[in-house]
Amino acid sequence: MKFFIDTADLDEIRAANDLGVLDGVTTNPSLVAKIVEDPDNFTYEDFKDHIAKICDIVGGPVSAEVTTLTADEMISQGEELASIDENVVVKCPLTLEGLKAMRHLSGNSIRINATLVFSPTQAILAAKAGASYVSPFVGRLDDISTDGMALIEQIVTIYRNYRFTTEVLVASVRHPQHVVEAAIMGADVATIPFKVIEQLAKHPLTDTGLDRFMKDAAVIKNR
Ligand code: G3P
Repeated sequence: MKFFIDTADLDEIRAANDLGVLDGVTTNPSLVAKIVEDPDNFTYEDFKDHIAKICDIVGGPVSAEVTTLTADEMISQGEELASIDENVVVKCPLTLEGLKAMRHLSGNSIRINATLVFSPTQAILAAKAGASYVSPFVGRLDDISTDGMALIEQIVTIYRNYRFTTEVLVASVRHPQHVVEAAIMGADVATIPFKVIEQLAKHPLTDTGLDRFMKDAAVIKNR
């Protein structure tokens, strides 16, 4: 199972990378907006520079999302984003226009992450369009009283049935239990906010056990 971090914050990316468990990064326009200090002067070149900085930190796939709506515009933007670094994966929304762009870009060896996926039918279309990753947003489904992880189970089953090679990337992860269930279901990737990555390592029995060991270690002299 691969772990991506879901952020555009360079400090968080460095910190997660230093843990040695990071396989890649996903960003989206909302995550980028969070890290922009001067919104009036943040240009498209600045955006591309920021993606390049992320690629310098992490030696794995870095998803950068298109910010256009028509297939032609997504194709041209996708080609530009893909030229930043060989690890850039172009994120396209699962719309009819997005599908056309995905098919074109994947046909030209540009890796695609199909985003804003909320149904099994959208996931089938992403696979058929040649996407390398499909991103179902589990947390946002949970938010509207729909079982987000049930969607992951459906997609994993469908992809296995047809041996689709598109990787299931569990997105909109809100807590460690999403990660546990994704692993049990055999999802390929979870993209996880930094706070949740930290939570994955936490257990109260680890803390109390370590406290006890440190106290008892006092018996060992001259360390
Ligand atoms: O990767 C998609 C993710 O960033 C969406 O998360 O928490 O905004 O639903 P959220």
